[in-house]
Formats: sequence, structure tokens, C-alpha cells
Amino acid sequence: MKTYNIAVIPGDGTGPEVIGEGLKVLKAAAKKFKFGLKTKVFPFGGKHYLETGKLVDEADEAELRKFDAIYLGAIGLSGAGAKNVAPGILEKNILLKLRFDFDQYINLRPVKLYPGVASPIAGVSPETMDYVVVRENTGGVYTGMGGIMMKDTPNEIASQEWVYNRFQVDRCLRYAFELAKKRHTKKAPFRGLSAEAKAAGKTARLTLCGKTNVLTNVFGLWERAAKEMAKEYPTVELAYRHVDAICLLMVQDPGQFDVIVTDNMFGDIITDLGAACQGGLGVAAGGNLNPDKSGVSMYEPIGGTAPDWTGKNGINPIAAIGAAALMIGNLGETKAAAAIEAAIAKTTPRMKTQLAGQMGWTTTQVGDLVAKSL
Ligand code: IPM
Ligand code: MN
Repeated sequence: MKTYNIAVIPGDGTGPEVIGEGLKVLKAAAKKFKFGLKTKVFPFGGKHYLETGKLVDEADEAELRKFDAIYLGAIGLSGAGAKNVAPGILEKNILLKLRFDFDQYINLRPVKLYPGVASPIAGVSPETMDYVVVRENTGGVYTGMGGIMMKDTPNEIASQEWVYNRFQVDRCLRYAFELAKKRHTKKAPFRGLSAEAKAAGKTARLTLCGKTNVLTNVFGLWERAAKEMAKEYPTVELAYRHVDAICLLMVQDPGQFDVIVTDNMFGDIITDLGAACQGGLGVAAGGNLNPDKSGVSMYEPIGGTAPDWTGKNGINPIAAIGAAALMIGNLGETKAAAAIEAAIAKTTPRMKTQLAGQMGWTTTQVGDLVAKSL
């Protein structure tokens, strides 16, 4: 029997509550699909920082490296605690630090409408809203290049540089092309393709999201690299949309998307929109992946700490459970991952809404429903 070692970072706010339900479901899946799970909890987060002054250091990372995966709840402070910590401290020294240091260069964020879930977009169905955003996760404007000069003078200058090199762009595109190729087969091609495209042998669509009309340097590079790589993937139709148009189309015509690939900043923005479209942050799961296995991957619900709901047993754990499914699937337990996905799809129709406090069930009850549907 294979045993997976999972580092668990429950974090702040409702993080521990949703992670608890994800682990509950994972344990049920482990029993059913006969694999072992070993977990170790790490205290990183805002509360831990306020209490100890500790963020994540090299020794912590050396320990985390020994695990097969990291399962993260949410990190952040609210109220009085938040006022004592400048914005960016926790983000840059915990979440982004782990993403960068473990070279988790893909942020995989499925936008999937589960059965029975109300989307704010009228007329969509689980069939027409089922795509994946591949967000580049270690580069772009997130690297922190730039600075402030002449601070607190009328001449103050602030810059934040949007930088990519070909290597970063290529490895992200590679992942996206491979994913697009895997998601559909010739027998079951992506439904959004035209008859002509299908006749020409296309089975999938990869949409590059950029801003080639303004950020001509950076997205010029992305577009050239994508076009070049497309030659290696004759079954994948390469499309291009500007980021503003993507926002419009994610609302007006989500059925046209299969895989979207984009840079770090645009990926951050459009995946919150994607989360809203799929029923809210309560449902949106994600993975920070190092596909080369040179670092540990980390899985998390996209949502934050939901301070208003902390300790109330009212937060939606579906996103955290979905992140657990992504995690176990990537570790190789694809049957268990599919079973958890199916159990989520059986549970969502039984929930009144996907909103905290309005699910018709408590957090722990939703976890129970999913675990029992496995
Ligand atoms: C996300 C978050 C983070 C990001 C923040 C908390 C640094 O918004 O995971 O999308 O911008 O990547
Ligand atoms: Mn975000």
C-alpha cells in the first residue's frame, strides 16, 4: 500500500475548518481506494506570526520539501491583528515564498460548474462551463522587481516590473498544451470547436490570454512562443484573446473555453471572476504545481480566510475538498480523485446554495455528505 505524506497548513480564519473537511474526505477515500495518508500540521499563518514573529524560513522549507504535497487552507489576518501587519508581509513571506521557492510555476484553477449550483450567469450548465485556467505562478509582475524612490516627496516614483523570460513562458505553455491535449480525445472532442476545426483534426482548444495591443513586449513574447509551440500540437487549436475580452467572454460565452493559459497577474484576476461564475469562492479549488517534481506542489481553495465566518461551522468546504481531489489525483490516485469529484457532484445538488451560512447544512455536514457519497 502506498502512503502519502502530506504537510498540512490550515492557516487562519476558516482555513482550519475547510481543511478539516478536506482531510475527512481524503481519509474516507484512502480507506476505500486503499492508500495510506500521513499528515503533519504546520502552524504558518498570520496568527502564528503575531504570536511568534515567525513566517517561513529555510529550515521550514527544508522540512516541507520532504513531503509529497502541501495542503493549505488560507492565510491572512483581520481586525486588530491585521492592523499590526503591513499588507504583503504574510503574502510575500508565506504564500508567494512557497510558490517561488518550490518553483510551483503552474497555478491550475478549474472553472467548473457543479450540478445544482447557481451561477450568476443565466443559461449555463455543467456542460457549458467546464474549463481550466493555467496561470503562470512564479513570474511576471509578482517577482517584486522595481522599487520606490524619493519616498514621501511630490516626486516619488514607484515601479513594479512585468518581466518574463522565454524559459518561464515556454514551460507554462508546455503544461497548458499538454493539458489541452489530454482533456479531450478524437472521439470526444471539445464541444466548442467548429465543424471545420474538427474535420481538420482538432480535438481541443487552448486560448492564450494576454494584452498584445498594449503590453507588446511581454505578450508579444507569449504569443510568439505559443504560436511556435502550437506546431508541435496539431490537435490543439490555438486561440488568442486580450484579457479584457476574456472577462467579457467568461460571462457572455463561457462555453468557448477549454484551457486558458495566461500570465501571473491576469491569471490572478480572471480566476476570481471564474470563481464567481462557478458559484463563488466556496467552490473554487486550485493547485500550485511543480510539474517537474523539483519542488513540492501545494493545493488550496482559492478563497481566503472569511473572518466573519470563523468558528461558525458555516463556511463552504467544497473548494477545499476539490483541492484535496486535485492533490490526490496528481499524486497518482486518479481513481480516488475522480471519486471525490463525483461525490462533490452528488453533494452540490443537495445544498441550498454555495454561500456561507446558506448551504442548508453546516460545514461539517457538507464534509460528511461528500465523504458518504464516495
Ligand atoms: C491568489 C491570491 C494571492 C495571489 C495573494 C493572496 C497573494 O489572491 O492565490 O489568487 O495574488 O496570487
Ligand atoms: Mn487571487
